[in-house]
Amino acid sequence: MKTLILDGKNEKDMARAALIVMGGGLCAMPTETVYGLAADALDKEAVKSIFDAKGRPQDNPLIVHICSVRQLSLLWESVPEKALRLSKAFWPGPLTMVYKKSAAVPDEVTAGLDTVAVRMPSHKVALELIRLSGTPLAAPSANLSGKPSPTRVSHVKEDMDGRIDCILDGGESSVGVESTVVDMTGETPRILRPGAISEEMIAEVLGAAETDPAVTRGVKDDETPRSPGMKYRHYAPSCPVTLFCGAPDDTVKALLKADENASALVFEEYLKEAKAHFKKAVSFGESWDHAEHTKRVFAALRELDGKGDIFIQAPRELGCEAAVTNRLKRAAGFSEVRCTEHTVIGVTGRSGSGKGYVSLKLSEELSLAYFDADAVYKKLLTENGDMKKAVLDAFPDCESEGEIDRKALGAVVYNDLEKKRLLESLTHPYVKREAEKFIKENNGAVIDAPLLFESTIDRLCTLTVGVYCEDGTSLSRILARDGITGELASLRLSAQPPVSFYRERCDIMIKNEKEPELSALIKKLI
Ligand code: TXA
Ligand code: MG
Repeated sequence: MKTLILDGKNEKDMARAALIVMGGGLCAMPTETVYGLAADALDKEAVKSIFDAKGRPQDNPLIVHICSVRQLSLLWESVPEKALRLSKAFWPGPLTMVYKKSAAVPDEVTAGLDTVAVRMPSHKVALELIRLSGTPLAAPSANLSGKPSPTRVSHVKEDMDGRIDCILDGGESSVGVESTVVDMTGETPRILRPGAISEEMIAEVLGAAETDPAVTRGVKDDETPRSPGMKYRHYAPSCPVTLFCGAPDDTVKALLKADENASALVFEEYLKEAKAHFKKAVSFGESWDHAEHTKRVFAALRELDGKGDIFIQAPRELGCEAAVTNRLKRAAGFSEVRCTEHTVIGVTGRSGSGKGYVSLKLSEELSLAYFDADAVYKKLLTENGDMKKAVLDAFPDCESEGEIDRKALGAVVYNDLEKKRLLESLTHPYVKREAEKFIKENNGAVIDAPLLFESTIDRLCTLTVGVYCEDGTSLSRILARDGITGELASLRLSAQPPVSFYRERCDIMIKNEKEPELSALIKKLI
């Protein structure tokens, strides 16, 4: 069979792809998560040929893709209210919901289960193909069974050339890992496969959500998983994969002692060292850059394959990295090296967000020592001779009787971003060294640091938590605490990064209005 490559931006090509699907053929289509291998979901024979093309086990059911919420009533026995609410919040997008199937859905799609998984993708080309075909489309990821999922046309070609009718080109997948699969048949929605829509995001809409235990620990030998896909070795290159888990500064140390005859996937900030050590090293993006990890993970697994052992600097497990970690664990068959012994939680956020309160609460509940980065910085300014000298050399006008005049220094750097950066580049290494010492002496810590990422102290952490609240709340907190004018407090707030800065980088975000909701997090950490 010759596999046509069609252009998702070209109307004629789109019509051609739709005709192929309507005739019972197979078309790889782009979605925002990964490329899918689509066929008419209501055509048994077409669905069977998906399993053949992928070499997929017959007992692993498919996801059905729709372009309008109305199609749900065709596929499900009924449409529960909770599912409707999730669809309003996250569709079109990377969320798949499992619910009792209607008689219209062939058993071939569900592998004999009485439920069917449905999602509405957000990629324009996918939505348009479903619409033009006039039928819901069953589509697993468009890779050979067991291989990493495809996020580019070249990946699909690698696995599927000659096995399917056509591939629709829609560029690189923007999310990069498959959708979150959530079982809606029980009282509480239960995540069977983590994806870009996190447990926290679902809980925010419905009040509660849980993750199936098999997601993090794998399926036991005598267990029937809630989702058949859980039991297969997945996303796996042909070479053995090992994960190095823990704080990034620790995992890189362990990696650089490992066998250099391997290839490695490491965070951008360590790429140079890794390249000097290993036969081949590829960047995973900066260690804090969750979106980049998600986007790169499958392409990297493909790129590193075939060159011996693959060592991976694993992102942290909790919060928004759950999806990436889950794919990596399965690619590695749960083979892991633990590189950090203790728990180190970095807490950060804007002024007045209440991060101090959250830090102290976490330190108390988890019996971890409390490190106040701001207080340590101020102490070092008066007590550490080397740091003092470095600062005074750079800011000679801020000296008063041999000491640093903190007010004068503040006046200089608060109005000049470049000078602020210079001061931080001089002082951050000292504060970071103190944090490192403190963590060692206390076997872990909660680190309260307004500049957690800027100081790179986040790289010592096994979890990063961002605290936020409404702007009005932070303003009144600053006013009550620091006794400054409203104008000055607003000025201070406007000089800080927006909440989105922390949302992008932190593993977990906690809203701290009246009383922060910490019990779910604490339960996970104990
Ligand atoms: O992002 C995605 O979901 C991609 C794109 C193409 O939409 N699709 C995808 O499909 O990842 P696939 O077949 O590779 O993964 C489907 C997963 C499997 O783990 C399967 O076991 C689970 O969904 N699944 C499907 N139907 C189910 C059902 N009725 N109950 C429980 N799990 C189900
Ligand atoms: Mg798949």
